Amino acid sequence: MPIATDDMLQKIKDRQWALADIDWNAPGAELITDEQRPMLKDFMADVVWVEALGACGFKALELKVEDPYLKEIYRYFQAEEQRHANAELALMHRWGMLEQDEFPEPTVQLRLIMQWLDKNVDKMSLGVLGTLIPMLEVALDGALLKFLLDEVKDPVCHETFAKINSDESRHLAVDFHLLEVLGMPRTRHLVINTVATFLTPSVLMGLVQFAPLLSSTRDKIIGIGLPEEKLYRAIRRFGEVGDKSPTTPRNPIYQAVKYYGNMVMDRHHPFHRYVGDPLVAITNRYPRRWLKPKPSWTESLAYEPAA
Ligand SMILES: [Fe+2]
Ligand SMILES: [Fe+2]
Repeated sequence: MPIATDDMLQKIKDRQWALADIDWNAPGAELITDEQRPMLKDFMADVVWVEALGACGFKALELKVEDPYLKEIYRYFQAEEQRHANAELALMHRWGMLEQDEFPEPTVQLRLIMQWLDKNVDKMSLGVLGTLIPMLEVALDGALLKFLLDEVKDPVCHETFAKINSDESRHLAVDFHLLEVLGMPRTRHLVINTVATFLTPSVLMGLVQFAPLLSSTRDKIIGIGLPEEKLYRAIRRFGEVGDKSPTTPRNPIYQAVKYYGNMVMDRHHPFHRYVGDPLVAITNRYPRRWLKPKPSWTESLAYEPAA
């Protein structure tokens, strides 16, 4: 069922929180084991950057939707993703993973996605953005954080992610709301008209670049000791929730993204042998000096509780 966007906006406004609400020096940081530390640092660094990508995606959506409540909701979501990134940076500092002014470096896979988004995000239609962003949220943003809590015992981490996950539950509700709207008869023809634009070389390149990001995330999840099945379950959720709606499945871009997600998650699919795995190998060796400078929006990250 589509949601009432005015009610949702009010709910979002009522549930705002700040980094200063959390006592970052409370006991519990010592519960991170030396064994966990290196992989956890890598994983958290990825999560921080995925939040930043989420903020960038919501900014693009804000510009494309017409519903004034939805526009405002996306403005809040940008700030929330930013806050998530900052809270995760604060956790990394708490755990002694970063020096005073140190910022985690994004992996090459993330840098390539950022580069691609920076160039293409404005050109993408609402149909494409509104379908791809829920996938990013389901797979990388909301779900990953839940897995982390199974492994990390620090109570401040739990407190932080309880706040983040509660924001994410509203992100997902709005993500799936937009998917439903995109599948409605009135908007569907617009979406179908954008299928041609969807299949441009640059969008296909983006999808191809998303694969090594998912694969490298999977490797890190296994490294932390989490079963990869959990990531797959999260990605499958995109289709399970989407398919329940009477209108979402009629959006052809949704079908394409769902198919893509299932393909990436199927380890036996020839896609991995011929495209995914070679791409991870290539991107891992991609010379950093070939990367363009980081987009300017990445500079707004700051972990100070005042943020
Ligand atoms: Fe987030
Ligand atoms: Fe989110």
